[in-house]
Amino acid sequence: MSGPAYETVDTEVLVLGAGGAGLRGAIAAAEAGARVLIVCKSLLGKAHTVMAEGGVAAAMHNVAYQDSWEVHFADTMKGGKLINDWRMAEIHAKESPERVLELERWGAVFDRTWQGRIHQRPFGAHTYPRLAHIGDRTGLELIRTLQDRAVHTDGVDVHMEVTVFKLVKSEGRIAGALAYRRSDGALILYRCAALVLASGGAGKMYRVTSNSWESTGDGTALAYDAGATLRDMEMVQFHPTGMVWPAGVRGILVTEGVRGEGGVLRNKDGERFMERYDRDRMELSSRDVVARAINSEVLAGRGTPHDGAFLDITHRKPEFIKSKLPSMYEQFLKLANVDITKQPMEVAPTIHYAMGGVRVDAETGESTVPGLYAAGEVASGLHGANRLGGNSLSDLLVFGKRAGDAAGAAAKSNQGAANARIDDVEVEEAIAELLAPLERAAGENPFKLQAEIQDVMSAHAPIVRDSPGLDAGLQKILELGARARTCGTGGSNTLEFNPGWHTAIDLRSMLVNAEALLRSALERKESRGAHARSDYPKTDDDLTSVNYVVEKSTDGMKVRAEPRPPMPTYLAEAVQRSYARYTPEATE
Ligand code: FUM
Repeated sequence: MSGPAYETVDTEVLVLGAGGAGLRGAIAAAEAGARVLIVCKSLLGKAHTVMAEGGVAAAMHNVAYQDSWEVHFADTMKGGKLINDWRMAEIHAKESPERVLELERWGAVFDRTWQGRIHQRPFGAHTYPRLAHIGDRTGLELIRTLQDRAVHTDGVDVHMEVTVFKLVKSEGRIAGALAYRRSDGALILYRCAALVLASGGAGKMYRVTSNSWESTGDGTALAYDAGATLRDMEMVQFHPTGMVWPAGVRGILVTEGVRGEGGVLRNKDGERFMERYDRDRMELSSRDVVARAINSEVLAGRGTPHDGAFLDITHRKPEFIKSKLPSMYEQFLKLANVDITKQPMEVAPTIHYAMGGVRVDAETGESTVPGLYAAGEVASGLHGANRLGGNSLSDLLVFGKRAGDAAGAAAKSNQGAANARIDDVEVEEAIAELLAPLERAAGENPFKLQAEIQDVMSAHAPIVRDSPGLDAGLQKILELGARARTCGTGGSNTLEFNPGWHTAIDLRSMLVNAEALLRSALERKESRGAHARSDYPKTDDDLTSVNYVVEKSTDGMKVRAEPRPPMPTYLAEAVQRSYARYTPEATE
C-alpha cells in the first residue's frame, strides 16, 4: 500500500496544545533535559486559558491570613461533591501557591495588596479571598508569561496551526501522532518517546459556549481512540454568566470576577434571587448552583428580555470597575453598547469547561496508555462534579508541570524511544480516512452536521437533564455519527486552509465527546454538582464512592462505574471540619 507522502518529524516529548498546561508542561519537560515540540491547532497564545479571567486560586493567604492548603483542599472537594480524585485535590492545594509565585518570578504582573503582596479576590465557593489576579485578564497574563518563558527555554520548539488526528502506538506504548498543517495541507508523522495531551475541552459541541472554535474535544477523543480510559464525562460546567445580547456575542464569558468584586444578580422584577438558592453565599455560591438558579428564574417567567438575569455592579465607583474589570468594561461597551459603570449587564449560563476527560495518575498525569500524559482541562479528576472558579489556572500550572516532569523523565530514561517502530499500514489507513471527505463531493455538509450536534447537545444535555431526553439525544448523536462518516467537502479538495475538511475532522472528536457525555449521564442516576437530573433530583450517597469511566471496546463505547479508594483520615477530617463550618446544600 502506498498512500500520499508525509513528513516525519522526531522529538522526545510531543506536547499537544499551547494553553497554560501545554506551555507549563513543555517548560518542565525541557528542564528535565528532553527535546520538546509543542504542536498547536491554533496560533501560539490563543487558547481557552485566557477565558479564566478572574484569577488563579492558591492558598497564599495574602488577604485572609486564615487560609491554608487544607481549606483550599476541602473547598475543592466540597465543590466537586466529593467525587474528585482526592490525591489530585491535595497536590493541587499544596502546590498551587509555589506555582503562582514561580509565575511571578517569571514576570507575571499581578495586582497588589497595599503591602505589595499579590492581591487575592473572593470567588464562588472559595472560603477565603484566594484568587491571585491581574484585573480580569489573569489567563491572558499567565499565557503571556509562560509563552515568553517557553520560547526562551532551550529545547522547546513550536509548530502552529497543526491538527493532530491520530495517536500512534508501538508495542502498546505511545510512539507518535499523525497531523496535518493548515497552511499547506502537509501531512506529518511526529515520532516521540512521550506525549503530553494539553488540548483543552469540548465546549464547541454546544451552541452557546465561552469556548472558541478549537475546543472540539480532540484530546479526549484521541486518547479514547488510543485505548485510554476517560472519566466523569457527564460533568460539564455551565458558567453562570455569559453575554446574551446582541445574539452574535451570546456565550462570551462574563467573568466571575464581577461577582467577586461585589456584583449582584437580579431577575426582571429586581429581586436578588440568589437568596432563594443559597442565602449564605448568594452570588458567590458554586457555579452549578448559580447557573441552575438563573435557569430556574427564567423557567419561572422571571427572566430578563433575552432569557437571563441582570448582573449589576453599578454600586461600585466607575474608577474601581475600570481598574478591576477593564476587559468587562470594554467588552460590554464595544460589543453591547452597555456602560457597566452605569447599567446592569444581561447574562445567562454558557458552557465553559469539561470536568471530565482523560483518567490520569495523580502524581504523574500519565493516562492508562503508557507514555501518554494529560494535563489541564483534557484531564479529569481534580474537579469532580463541579470546578471552582480559578482552580483551572492553578490546575494547569500544577499538573502541567507534573506531566511535563514525568514525560521528560520517561523520554530521557528510554522508557519510550523516539525511533520506535511504527506500523506503515496503520499510518496509511489513518491518512486515507483523513482524506476521504475530500473525495465525497456529494457528501453531507460538515458545518450542517456540526450545527446539528450543537443543537442536540443543547436540547438533550442541558443544565437539568432527564432519562428520556438523554436517551433521545444519544440516538440522535449515533445517527449523526453515521452521517458524519459519509460527509464531504462539496467538491473542494484542496488541502490548504480548507475549513469544510477541517470541520469534517473535528466532527469525529465532537461525536466521541458527545456520546461519552450522554452515555455517562444516563448511567449516573442521581443529581450531583453539574449533573442535575429532574428524574433523580437527590444525591445518592452510594454513588459518592464511584466515578463513571468510559472505554473503547470491540463493540463500541462502554461506560462502567469505577470505585474510588477512600480518603485518608487527615484529608477526610479536613473536609469534615469544612462541612461543620458550612454546608452548601442548606438552602438549595
Ligand atoms: O469567570 C472567570 O473568570 C473564569 C474563571 C475560571 O473559569 O476559572
